Amino acid sequence: MELDERPLHNEIFFAIARKNAAQDRSVLDVHEDPSSGSDEANCEKEPLCSSLDELFQAHNPPVFLAPMAGITDALFRRLVCSFGASAVVSEMISCEALVRNNKKTYRRASVTVRAAQAFTLAEAASTSQAHLAYHSEGSDSINTCDAITQVMGSDPQTMAESAKINESLGADVIDINMGCPARKIVSNESGSALMKNEDLAVRIAEAVVNAVKIPVTLKMRLGWDAEHINCLSLAKKFEDVGIKMLAIHCRTRNQMYSGTADWSAISQLKEIIKIPYLCNGDIKTPENAMEAIKLSGANGVMIGRAALGRPWLLRQIMDFIHEEKTTQSPTLEEQFNIVMQHFSDTLEFYGELHGIRMFRKHFCWYSNSLCGASKFRETINRSDDISFIKDCVKEFYESNFVRNRFGECDAC
Ligand SMILES: Cc1cc2nc3c(=O)[nH]c(=O)nc-3n(C[C@H](O)[C@H](O)[C@H](O)COP(=O)(O)O)c2cc1C
Repeated sequence: MELDERPLHNEIFFAIARKNAAQDRSVLDVHEDPSSGSDEANCEKEPLCSSLDELFQAHNPPVFLAPMAGITDALFRRLVCSFGASAVVSEMISCEALVRNNKKTYRRASVTVRAAQAFTLAEAASTSQAHLAYHSEGSDSINTCDAITQVMGSDPQTMAESAKINESLGADVIDINMGCPARKIVSNESGSALMKNEDLAVRIAEAVVNAVKIPVTLKMRLGWDAEHINCLSLAKKFEDVGIKMLAIHCRTRNQMYSGTADWSAISQLKEIIKIPYLCNGDIKTPENAMEAIKLSGANGVMIGRAALGRPWLLRQIMDFIHEEKTTQSPTLEEQFNIVMQHFSDTLEFYGELHGIRMFRKHFCWYSNSLCGASKFRETINRSDDISFIKDCVKEFYESNFVRNRFGECDAC
């Protein structure tokens, strides 16, 4: 199958995805206020955004889910979309591994849950088999969210090739990683290390833009360290080679995740570039999002860690910044159903043992603000027995329902 066949396939994919969106979302939309009718209605009102321009028109300002390795897999992205978000970004995909046809990387790069499953079933270990799996069985709903696949690497040609593969796998947008601070990534001149090598960074951006028909975006930090803040000058260079949107994590590489994100550090960008940019880092509440937009002058926000255990947060942020509406979090009963569904989906997606281990971090995040959380985690983290874990989850939430009802919380 030729890469150039994508547009035709995507028309079919989009049609099926739109149809499936309403069905898939009804399972998870337990929290929706029926009077707002927004999600399913939006499905009708706002067809899948096929370009960033449409996305910015439909969601002003938009709220994106940040890429998070080991977390924003197809399941989590689908879950966040089911509540409402403008776009979701995949975990970073190693361009080297993808062009070598690494099976796990292909699965990770699959835009939808069903595509990843179809791909696994097909035992595909080559590009053409993977495309076949995606196009024959891969359509399911990513809902009204745009699907953004993030590529990571340091060789312009390999990055371009991997972007093409991701385009053929159904990505709506390709994002380039120039923000990852991890030592093993920067030691290969990838991630935020590219901000130190502006020439290479711009060549990578140009190569990827020229390789695909879909929009290309880029995520970076303020700079390498406090003495080398170059996101403003780099932004202009990226715009000049055709990058369509930027997301800035408002810390330097050397800060890693410490200190506080400086939203105002990017406010000048609006005078330097015409393309939209997103503010990222430490946005934890709808009020934070409003403040971040004000201080950064950004056209939208990108939310990472705050969505862990709260996949509904992006929806709450959208309601607040679009309509100044305060949307309640799901009730505890609803949260229990969301956790159980996410857990079951994870077991099905990754297999039982791997699924249990993958989900421990999610249990930790979901239980974070509830009473008795540390004892609950201790218990489930020691077990690989699915029915025992499910019983523990039920008991934990039930004890919280009771405490909630009587307004008591003596365990924490
Ligand atoms: C566990 C984890 C994994 C991450 N993986 C990626 C990644 O794959 N690509 C990327 O560009 N940023 C990655 N990031 C950075 C986030 O996208 C985001 O920029 C950062 O967490 C700051 O935003 P936040 O305060 O909203 O979480 C990761 C962050 C975390 C915590």
